[in-house]
Amino acid sequence: MASIQTDVTTNIGIEEKNRKAVVKELTKLLADEHVLYNKTRSYHWNVEGSSFMEFHKLFEDQYTQLAEKIDEIAERVRSLGFYAEGRLKELVKLAELDEPAIPSDPVDQVANLVMDHETIIRNLRKLAKDFPEKYEDDGSGDFVIGLMQYHEKTSWMLRSYLK
Ligand SMILES: [Fe+2]
Repeated sequence: MASIQTDVTTNIGIEEKNRKAVVKELTKLLADEHVLYNKTRSYHWNVEGSSFMEFHKLFEDQYTQLAEKIDEIAERVRSLGFYAEGRLKELVKLAELDEPAIPSDPVDQVANLVMDHETIIRNLRKLAKDFPEKYEDDGSGDFVIGLMQYHEKTSWMLRSYLK
């Protein structure tokens, strides 16, 4: 019986250099999402004031969703044939988002989170064009559009607290 030939090379119709370029951008995104996840979770812990429970729960919902998005980004990297960076030290080096001292006032917390979501949205909007146009990766283009819509909705909800 002939042995089954296995070819584990990723052969999905996107050149390796293009997949690599997309993965580089996805890894930076993974880094920013980690910072935002961690920040949202630490705000959940440290929030104070008469609306404590509102924000405590809101931030828990949001960091839970962010954890899912992180998972999807890492698995997108794997789908493109590369390994996902999982070391926090490496991710922190790549992150664009700042980590200022953690405020306990929910208004300061929300304002900071809005800024971060918006930074990520602007980045995603650029990637949504670059992935299909520069790297011929429509799948990743579609993926970042979905992610952008999630961040747009979340930033609207957060922004609504600041009126
Ligand atoms: Fe908790």
